[in-house]
Amino acid sequence: MSPKDTRFAGRRALVTGSTGGLGVAIAKALAADGAFVVVSGRDITRGAAVVTDIRSAGGQATFVAADLGAGADAAIRLADAAAGAAGGNIDILVNNAATLLMPTPTADISEQELRDTFSVNVFAPFLLTGVLGPRMAEQGHGAIVNIGSITGLRGASGSAVYNGTKAVIHSFTTSWADEYGPAGVRVNAVAPGPIGTERQAEFADHIAPVLSRLPSRRMSTPEEVAAAVAFLASDDAANIHGAILSVDGGWAAT
Ligand SMILES: NC(=O)c1ccc[n+]([C@@H]2O[C@H](COP(=O)([O-])OP(=O)(O)OC[C@H]3O[C@@H](n4cnc5c(N)ncnc54)[C@H](OP(=O)(O)O)[C@@H]3O)[C@@H](O)[C@H]2O)c1
Repeated sequence: MSPKDTRFAGRRALVTGSTGGLGVAIAKALAADGAFVVVSGRDITRGAAVVTDIRSAGGQATFVAADLGAGADAAIRLADAAAGAAGGNIDILVNNAATLLMPTPTADISEQELRDTFSVNVFAPFLLTGVLGPRMAEQGHGAIVNIGSITGLRGASGSAVYNGTKAVIHSFTTSWADEYGPAGVRVNAVAPGPIGTERQAEFADHIAPVLSRLPSRRMSTPEEVAAAVAFLASDDAANIHGAILSVDGGWAAT
């Protein structure tokens, strides 16, 4: 397939948290479909490896380091640096980076953990969207895909903080869809259930009983979730605004 036949030819994408886990699969999926992808995260070595993989497969990518837990300036700097590195306005923003917390009783969460988790999971996507959303609106097109979670739709003992951040992401999604949609910028979310990433192994004891109840009886692969992200970012989803698409083996349905 030539780049001209692909869905994202000529588009520039920023995928936060694409040095590991789901973000890698999203970066690769967008690049395979013709996007110039800005890979981002804190880990320069893993970021460089993702860029090398994408280029080896014939795609276009570059790495911009960012610590999204480092405050407003870091998110705003990333927005500008990504556009600079990609050679123009970002057309697709995937707000994927997040801090995943082990289930912990509310009383045992420190104020610092609360602040740090909200900083990466809530403040960073808000600030990035606040910079890139208006630029997309100005150019008359763009797509933002937020990575929420089934956990943002459900309560779970010991998960108030992480689940709360994901509920906020779902809420941001619908508000931003209303705010930016009239200017041609679509904002949607994917709400994954358990994904078979390396990190997920740490949560195996918590996940096993959940999987046994899912209609699919299994986790999603990162590629299955990435395919949903690519769909929402693409013109195939041209009239989809404010959707929260579950990719969870049917968890939300049960
Ligand atoms: N895994 C699941 O089962 C699951 C289920 C539902 C939803 N999700 C959602 O899916 C998304 C990806 O999760 P994942 O499982 O792929 O997580 P992961 O394997 O822990 O990867 C997280 C990514 O975010 C980056 N990141 C973390 N803290 C950062 C910071 N302070 N600044 C910049 N980048 C940071 C990491 O890069 P560096 O280490 O290089 O900074 C890494 O690339 C998240 O939004 C998560 O909430 C995951």
